[in-house]
Amino acid sequence: MTLADPSPWLAVLGRAHPVLLHAPLGILPAIALLEFGSALLRRPPPRGSVLALAWFGAATAAAAVASGLVLAGEGGHANELLGNHKILGIVLGGLCVLTAVLAFFEQRLPMRLSLLAALGVMIPTGHLGGTMTHGKDFLFAPFRELDEAPPPTTVFARTIQPILERTCTKCHNPEKLKGELLLTTPDGIRKGGENGPVVVAGKPEDSPLLVRCLLPADHDDHMPPEGKAQPTEAELAALRAWIAAGAAF
Ligand code: HEC
Repeated sequence: MTLADPSPWLAVLGRAHPVLLHAPLGILPAIALLEFGSALLRRPPPRGSVLALAWFGAATAAAAVASGLVLAGEGGHANELLGNHKILGIVLGGLCVLTAVLAFFEQRLPMRLSLLAALGVMIPTGHLGGTMTHGKDFLFAPFRELDEAPPPTTVFARTIQPILERTCTKCHNPEKLKGELLLTTPDGIRKGGENGPVVVAGKPEDSPLLVRCLLPADHDDHMPPEGKAQPTEAELAALRAWIAAGAAF
C-alpha cells in the first residue's frame, strides 16, 4: 500500500461510518433543544449557537452519508434493509444541510420545519442501521428472552444426574450398556436393565438402583463394582430421597 493508493483510506472512511453518524445524532436534538427550549421560555433562541451547531451537524451528516456510501460499496449487506437505510440516510443528510442553510438565512419557520423533519427521519434511519449491525429486534430482545426463560431445572437434572454421571455411566451408557441398563437418559432409567425396572417410584428399598449401592462392597451385586468410584453417603441419601419423592424427571 502507498499513500497514493486511495482504496485503503476509502475503506477506513467507510468503516468510520458507525462513529461519524453519532455526531449528527447528538447535534440535531441539541439544536432542537436550543431552538424550541428558548421558544418555550419566551426568549430569543441563541442564534450564534444554533447556527454553529447547524453547520457542524450538516458537515458531520455529509461525512456520515459519504462514509456510509463507501461502506455500502464494500458489500455484505446487499439487501432491502441497506437500500432503505441508504435512501433515508441521504434524505437525512440533505435535511441537515437544508437546516443549516435556512438557519444561515434566518428563515426561522422553514428552518424549524426542516429540523423537525430531520429528527423524524433520524429515527427510522437509525433503527434500520441498528438492525443491520445488531440483527432484527435487537432492542426488545431482553423482553423476548424473559418470555423464553428456561424452566427451572429439576431435582433430577440438578442433583441425581451428576451422581449417576460420576459413578455409574462409565459402564451404563449407550456403548457399554452393562446389565442392559442405560443410566444416561430418563428413558433408560425408566426402562431398567436385564432384570427389569431399577427404580420403583416411592420405594427406595425396592429400587435396585439404590439397593445395589447399599450392598456390602464385596458383594457380587454391589454397584458400582468394587474398586470403582463410589457414591458418597450424601449422594446415597439424595438418591434415596429422590426415589422416595416419586423419582420424577
Ligand atoms: C465398572 C462398571 C460399572 C459401574 C461403574 C456401575 N455398574 Fe452397574 N453394572 C455393571 C455390570 C457389569 C452389571 C451387570 C452385572 C450385574 O448385574 O451385576 C451392572 C448391573 C447393574 C444393575 C442391574 C441391572 C439389571 O437389571 O440386572 C444395576 C441396577 C446397576 N448396575 C446400577 C448401577 C448404578 C446405580 C451405578 C452407579 C452408582 C452402577 N451400576 C455403576 C457395571 C457397572
